[in-house]
Amino acid sequence: MLARTDLVELIDSRVPLKKTGHNHSACCPFHQEKTPSFSVNGNKQFFHCFGCGVSGNAISFLMEYDRLDFLDAVDELASRLGIEVPREASNTPSISPSLYELMLKASDFYFGHLSRNSKAKNYVAERGLSQEVVEQFKLGYATEAWDGLLSNLSQNSETTKQLIEVGMVIKNDNGKTYDRFRDRLMFPIRDKRGKVIAFGGRIIGDGKPKYLNSPETPIFHKGKELYGLYEAKQQNRQLSRLIIVEGYMDVVALAQFGVTNAVATLGTATTDFHLQQLFKTVNEIIFCFDGDKAGQAAAWKALEIALPLIRGDRIVRFMFLPEGEDPDTLIRAQGKEGFEQQQEISLPLSEYLLNELSKDMNLDIADEKSRFLGRLKPYLEKITDLIFKEMLIDAAGKRLGMNPNQLAVSLGMTTKRESFKPRQTTSSAKTITPMRMLVALLVQNPELAKEITNTDWLLTVQQNGSILLKSLLDLLHSSPHLTTGALLEHWRGNDEHGLLLKLATWEHLIEESETRVEVFRDSIAKIFKELAQTRRDELIAKHKSQSLNSEETDELRRLLSSNS
Ligand code: CTP
Ligand code: MN
Repeated sequence: MLARTDLVELIDSRVPLKKTGHNHSACCPFHQEKTPSFSVNGNKQFFHCFGCGVSGNAISFLMEYDRLDFLDAVDELASRLGIEVPREASNTPSISPSLYELMLKASDFYFGHLSRNSKAKNYVAERGLSQEVVEQFKLGYATEAWDGLLSNLSQNSETTKQLIEVGMVIKNDNGKTYDRFRDRLMFPIRDKRGKVIAFGGRIIGDGKPKYLNSPETPIFHKGKELYGLYEAKQQNRQLSRLIIVEGYMDVVALAQFGVTNAVATLGTATTDFHLQQLFKTVNEIIFCFDGDKAGQAAAWKALEIALPLIRGDRIVRFMFLPEGEDPDTLIRAQGKEGFEQQQEISLPLSEYLLNELSKDMNLDIADEKSRFLGRLKPYLEKITDLIFKEMLIDAAGKRLGMNPNQLAVSLGMTTKRESFKPRQTTSSAKTITPMRMLVALLVQNPELAKEITNTDWLLTVQQNGSILLKSLLDLLHSSPHLTTGALLEHWRGNDEHGLLLKLATWEHLIEESETRVEVFRDSIAKIFKELAQTRRDELIAKHKSQSLNSEETDELRRLLSSNS
């Protein structure tokens, strides 16, 4: 797939590029700049920004620019090329692209009606929605007609069948077909790639049901989708935090007032799938609930879902609005600042948990203490991250006035403090060892792989990078035409990926290809020399302590005679 994608064309379709020498360039889409330092190399199928340092191949570009996760980026590349990606262990039958086209047409249809229907326009005005936000979320109106959408979109029975399949048209027991959504304000629900996959429809004014949602269809699974996620990603190149609110109207109102990072579940509780998805995009999630009883219950449910997913680098907070308010009413009354103030006083998950568990308890009393611990234990058991578990035990210890170690013992959870050694910092591309030079040259010029035919000797080299170099060479020997971009793809998700990216963009200023080959050979020679020196010292040491057999003596003689 990478081999068939043209990176220059792909990027150019999103960020217009100018040809500059061998490369193409533009102002970097990933940071603010006035002069172009974003460069795309077609031969290497690799991009790099000299300003902010971002770099990678076609998949990385889509992940960053379209804010997709890896598999979706692969899908996107595939659909550009018109091929289907077989997903292992996938039980979803292939979905006809025409279903998505129908949904897009439906969305256009509703959107068109909103500007023409005075009742709908009045309602939108009454709710205080700006034209801008209506367009951004592409809100629409489904008219009162029983066959508005049906007669507009369906020319034949095949299309009608598809409209039923995507939940837009209902067929009753008498075989009669009619529009599911009538006389409602329509919220198109888009998936991560921006494709319309479902709708939520609000009744105009009062009535029941207040909201009507698309049913589960081949393209829509409500436990997996979040309203507003696509729009939030579009509005924010760099997202670090997302807020989960309860309603469509909340997401839209918040966006209108400048809080563009809110998403909503679709009339369901938050699932762990939702959270996993969100944690792919951000490290911080704030749940925002109404201050009423229902909000409290929903929050507790969310906490239980979130507990096993907490890790050191992930933050989950809980925000409770004053009773009677929802994000829509609050931001309209108090503006962005008012909403942000509420956000400021939101509770970290751990505090919310301990608060709730110790509600109506007097923790100075021994009996209450142990009752509290009894309540806490099952929640601690749901936590998979050891550090977080420790922190929570610490925090509980503070509330109880108990030593955390003693507490861990009484909970039957001895934590292994000694296992929390600081991680070794990984070395960067600063020091230029011959090994590093080899790897860098190879990543930047994969054709150099033919300079080294045998790679087994690398196994005996006890140096950082030797195994990496061997894997690179082996890969290039079996696939000699890999570009830099394609080569790096093999390391995605591995520890070395970051280092390779750095080396791929490392400017060692060797422009001419002859010099490059020379430096490459020279680096190999240096490694051989080091290898020989180590071996020589080893043999000399052995000679001093024990004695050498005849083979070893020969070897040492050879090593000593080759100048070092
Ligand atoms: N919901 C639903 N079906 C209903 C009621 C609600 O699916 N009959 C879902 C919708 O996703 C809705 C959310 O629950 O957005 C929150 O519902 P609610 O708080 O009742 O509505 P609001 O979001 O406040 O909507 P509005 O301000 O338009 O009343
Ligand atoms: Mn509301």
